[in-house]
Amino acid sequence: MQTAVNMLTIAQGAWVKSLETAKVIVDATSGAGKDTLYLAQHMKPEAHIYAFDVQPTAMLKTKKTTEAYKDKITYVLDSHENIEQVVEDKLDLVVFNLGYLPGGDHSITTVPKVTIKAVENAMKQLAVNGVISIMVYPGHPTGKEEGVRLLILLEELPKEEYSVVKCQLTNHDSTAPYLYLIEKVK
Ligand SMILES: C[S@@+](CC[C@H](N)C(=O)[O-])C[C@H]1O[C@@H](n2cnc3c(N)ncnc32)[C@H](O)[C@@H]1O
Repeated sequence: MQTAVNMLTIAQGAWVKSLETAKVIVDATSGAGKDTLYLAQHMKPEAHIYAFDVQPTAMLKTKKTTEAYKDKITYVLDSHENIEQVVEDKLDLVVFNLGYLPGGDHSITTVPKVTIKAVENAMKQLAVNGVISIMVYPGHPTGKEEGVRLLILLEELPKEEYSVVKCQLTNHDSTAPYLYLIEKVK
């Protein structure tokens, strides 16, 4: 059973709240499709998901995992920094699960420069009350740098326009995954 005080549970809680009204949803790192499936299972019938991944193997896995919802999902084999070139509408929920695909090619991982660009772009395209969720894995050097650079970006955001939360297990060591949640409030 998934425990309550767990980064994924906390992230999913925010997704489910957002999914009550979300129409345009992006899984920015669809990987094996587990997050895409969760989003599809919890979204409104009229909502649509755009699932992005740069890895053909990952995209095949996403398609297989989400087969039952394929009519509600657009599968995009492209980098998440190009979301705006594919999705014309405002974004209601964008989910980033950074790092590499477990059990896959560990050399194909998200990288700080692209991640920052993608998050900046997603913030520009975010609807009012839209949410961006970013799971960070600081246990490897690239993930650690992504988290640090994201913090530099996020802590400067004006509070009148965005609410930002960092969720971290206080009594675990510094390599444990943690979560940023961003909501556009104005
Ligand atoms: C931790 S995995 C995602 C796990 C996935 N959300 C799931 O539920 O199975 C990270 C994924 O990000 C993908 N990725 C790396 N760079 C990317 C980029 N620039 N744009 C989109 N996806 C990227 C990798 O190919 C990998 O599949």
